[in-house]
Amino acid sequence: MVPLDLKIDGNRLRDSLEEMARIGATPGGGVQRLTLTDEDKQARDLFISWLKELDLAITVDAMGNIFGKRPGQNNDLPPVMSGSHIDSQPKGGRFDGILGVMGPLEVLRTLHANNIETKRPIVIVNWTNEEGSRFAPAMVASGVWAGALDLKWAYNRTDIRNKKLGEELERIGYKGNTACNKFPVHCYYEYHIEQGPILEREGKTIGAPKGILCLHWYDIYLEGEANQVGPTPMEGRHDALCAAAEMILKVNLLPEKMGGNMVATVGEIQNYPNSRNIIPDKVHFTVDIRSWDDDLALRAWEDVKQDFQAIADRRGCPLGMEETWRVEHSPFDEKLVQRVLNTAERLGYSNLHMVSGAGHDASYINQVAPTAMIFVPSIGGRSHVEVENTTWQDCEAGGNVLLHCILKSANEV
Ligand code: GLV
Ligand code: MN
Ligand code: MN
Repeated sequence: MVPLDLKIDGNRLRDSLEEMARIGATPGGGVQRLTLTDEDKQARDLFISWLKELDLAITVDAMGNIFGKRPGQNNDLPPVMSGSHIDSQPKGGRFDGILGVMGPLEVLRTLHANNIETKRPIVIVNWTNEEGSRFAPAMVASGVWAGALDLKWAYNRTDIRNKKLGEELERIGYKGNTACNKFPVHCYYEYHIEQGPILEREGKTIGAPKGILCLHWYDIYLEGEANQVGPTPMEGRHDALCAAAEMILKVNLLPEKMGGNMVATVGEIQNYPNSRNIIPDKVHFTVDIRSWDDDLALRAWEDVKQDFQAIADRRGCPLGMEETWRVEHSPFDEKLVQRVLNTAERLGYSNLHMVSGAGHDASYINQVAPTAMIFVPSIGGRSHVEVENTTWQDCEAGGNVLLHCILKSANEV
């Protein structure tokens, strides 16, 4: 029985997070560590150097996922796994993803420093391209690992400069030799910032989501007719950007119209040729729809698709729509979620049963092994922004909950 007074080293966790935050640091206090860029490589190299200090068995799979395995007393038993992602949004914060990698690293350092053996092995993981902002979709590498997405399809995903994911993986030296395939896992914990306002509003330190909303991503392509803006009369124009503007507002109104619990967002747009005195003849934008109710999200798409077609027809702008990616809502293992809540309670941290609106690799791992997440508050509910912040005290609290959840699971036979 491991005493509850075993604690992680909060200062060491903070130091690791601060060192990682220097890689791709932005002037606004955030990070830009887009997947498979030089910054991602630099952070991966640092992560691996830290894994080596703990004598972990390191493997890199064909999607660039990095695993570090600490042996248990019985290495035939499936391991307990914990991890998240090193990559960030273009103007991301210093906690999203990386806390869930530095957290289990701190847990392993604590076990190492205290010579604590566990019955089962423990695996720490960094999943490639969780964010999906450079290469859509998000969580692509955990999706391939879980068998939900195809490796070749993933390799051929392109970024805005037409670089392929597979080539970029190779360029940074992280296309590993191990097959990207699921292996037996006893259970998976992902430690993360909440990325929303609930914990702060409720005055709670630890959140345990009952699961993650479904995520549906679409790509919309519009064509128009380019022309000189001055001499071309307003009537008879085929302005692809105006068509997109109408469509974007339809997306914004969709949750209210569908009358259910969902959110819908257009976050990315490219306009061509993007000159102030040319009528736009090509637009690409994205649609993101999320709900706990997969059916509602699908009906919302069918509904807005009709609006898109009507707008495109009226404006004489040919329309292309791609159903890029869908992951169903993901209800976590109830016993494991309860373990997170109980562990928080026993350690004296206030806690809350909630839902995750943000997507996480845990969605796909949940298809393979019992899964739960540990959330800590995001100050002001802000995330995917440079000012994203969480107190060091809360980072430490979440780390302690992770430590004791991992220990409990790793000593189960
Ligand atoms: C992942 O970062 C998401 O889009 O929720
Ligand atoms: Mn994340
Ligand atoms: Mn994110």
